Amino acid sequence: MVKALVHKARTGVRRIDAANEGLCFLIGRMFEPLVECRRRNGHCDRRACTKIAALTVFARRNFSDQEEMMRAIAFPHADEHARDHRRLLDDLEELYRSNTCADIERARVREVLLRWIAAHVTAEDRSLGDWARTRRELVALVHEVEGRAVGADWADVAVDEGHMVGMVAE
Ligand SMILES: [Fe+2]
Repeated sequence: MVKALVHKARTGVRRIDAANEGLCFLIGRMFEPLVECRRRNGHCDRRACTKIAALTVFARRNFSDQEEMMRAIAFPHADEHARDHRRLLDDLEELYRSNTCADIERARVREVLLRWIAAHVTAEDRSLGDWARTRRELVALVHEVEGRAVGADWADVAVDEGHMVGMVAE
C-alpha cells in the first residue's frame, strides 16, 4: 500500500523520489513478519526499539538533505515543509521514549508512519517537486540561451536567482 502511494506521488525529481522510495522500502522490510527487532548482542528487551531508532536516523538524514535542497532552490514554503518533517521526527521520538515496541505495537507504529507519509508525500513533497522541476526547466533555458551545456548535477538548479531572472527578461 505505501509503495503504491509513494509510486503514485512521484515528483519526477530523483532526489525526492529516491528518498521516499527508500523510506517506503525500509518500512516494508521492517514490518515483514520474520524481521525481528533484535539488538546486536542479544534479544530485544522491548525497550529503546531499534526499528524506531533506525527509522528515525533514516528520516532525519533524508529530511536534512531535502531541507538543504529547499534552501538551495529558494523554495518559498521551506519553513512550513520543514515543520512537517519535524512533526514526524517528534512522533518517532515520542514512540521511542515511551518504549513502544515496533513488533508488539506494529499496527500503531505503522499507522503513525503511513498517515504521515500519505499526507506529506502527496502534498508537501509534490509541491516541492513542482517547484524544483520549474526551476530546473528555467535553468536549462538560461543555459541554452548562454550556449552552455546543462549538467546533470543538482547544483545547476541552485543558480543565482538574480542572474536567471535577468537572463529570462532579456
Ligand atoms: Fe518532505
